[in-house]
Amino acid sequence: LKKLTVNLEASSYPVFIGTNFLNKISARIKEYFPQTKILIICDKNVYRFHHELINNAFRRFKDYVFYYYLKPGEKSKSFKELNKIYHILVEHEFDRSSLIVALGGGVAGDISSFVASTYMRGIYLVHIPTTLLSMVDSSIGGKTAINFESRKNLVGSFYQPEFVFIDTNFLLTLPPREISSGMGEIIKYAFISNHNFNAFLNKYFADLREIDTETIEKIIAKAVSVKAAVVSRDEREDGLRKILNFGHTFAHAYESASGMKIKHGEAVVLGIISALVLSNKLKILSDKRFNEFLALPLKMKLKNKMKDVPEKNVLEFMRNDKKVRKSKINFVLISRIGKILLDVEAAKGAVLYSIRKTKELTTH
Ligand SMILES: NC(=O)c1ccc[n+]([C@@H]2O[C@H](COP(=O)([O-])OP(=O)(O)OC[C@H]3O[C@@H](n4cnc5c(N)ncnc54)[C@H](O)[C@@H]3O)[C@@H](O)[C@H]2O)c1
Repeated sequence: LKKLTVNLEASSYPVFIGTNFLNKISARIKEYFPQTKILIICDKNVYRFHHELINNAFRRFKDYVFYYYLKPGEKSKSFKELNKIYHILVEHEFDRSSLIVALGGGVAGDISSFVASTYMRGIYLVHIPTTLLSMVDSSIGGKTAINFESRKNLVGSFYQPEFVFIDTNFLLTLPPREISSGMGEIIKYAFISNHNFNAFLNKYFADLREIDTETIEKIIAKAVSVKAAVVSRDEREDGLRKILNFGHTFAHAYESASGMKIKHGEAVVLGIISALVLSNKLKILSDKRFNEFLALPLKMKLKNKMKDVPEKNVLEFMRNDKKVRKSKINFVLISRIGKILLDVEAAKGAVLYSIRKTKELTTH
């Protein structure tokens, strides 16, 4: 079992990474919360695939454990679901000492943590992420959110868990497209951290789905440590944490302009390609490095993903992004691995060029 720590001024917490240790996880939770009511907010797909494991592991809580089965999908990050969950907490007399366990991907994680951060002004929270994306990204760093009308993550807070338990066993049932989604963020970490990780990932990338659990654990641990290091230094995204947005200004716009046909992780990889193009176009990134750096993101299967996405629409969505401050579009760009430039402004022409070039590079 690997253990990492997310160091934060007020509330540091451990992240455990292992394989097939749900029983140990529940034992550890029981040790810390012996007489506590717990609500497990569990993604329905996760429950469908793993109910025996889950029931067995949490049986030790007897009458103290309650379940809420969350319908899979982004739509569940809503006030309607939130309302239902608060009702259950009230009905079963959950109090300030109670615990919420998020058992699912980023959707379950985001709404669970929002519930934990708001119910009675905050109750305990444990994350057990079950998608690759939630393991390396959403369960680390304390961002909570629900969507409002059509606005993604509009309502939320910062709220840290007591523990994060990453059990790679869950990945066995994850659809390939969801694995790719997590890989998008992992590739991002490979650019914002160091050469070793980039080279390591390049080496193992081709057959991630066939690699042994030890290597997967290594990749996840490295990714988590990159994110943890960044959020430790900038919990509330005032400065440094913006480097985590590498590729994301483009990515969010690609997702929206495709009518959500392009998945977040895929959009992130496309966004990374665009950020590399733009960095090169603005002469921040040398031609040599640009060509070298393209190799990793282009290993993802992104064939023709952007074919039907109009460039003008992408630009329009970028202007509406909530991260766009004072109506200027700022980008997170790169000059070499680990050397990230924040808040780089770019002219419309250069941005359009980057979108077009990304399309070209991924169209066959
Ligand atoms: N809080 C943050 O910092 C942060 C960061 C990134 C993303 N997010 C949010 O995370 C969400 C996306 O998360 P996600 O990609 O994990 O998606 P998700 O939670 O929607 O899960 C993806 C799909 O996989 C299924 N699934 C989950 N675990 C499974 C398993 N082990 N086996 C089989 N199927 C399984 C789910 O039912 C769902 O259909 C978005 O809402 C995004 O806004 C939050």
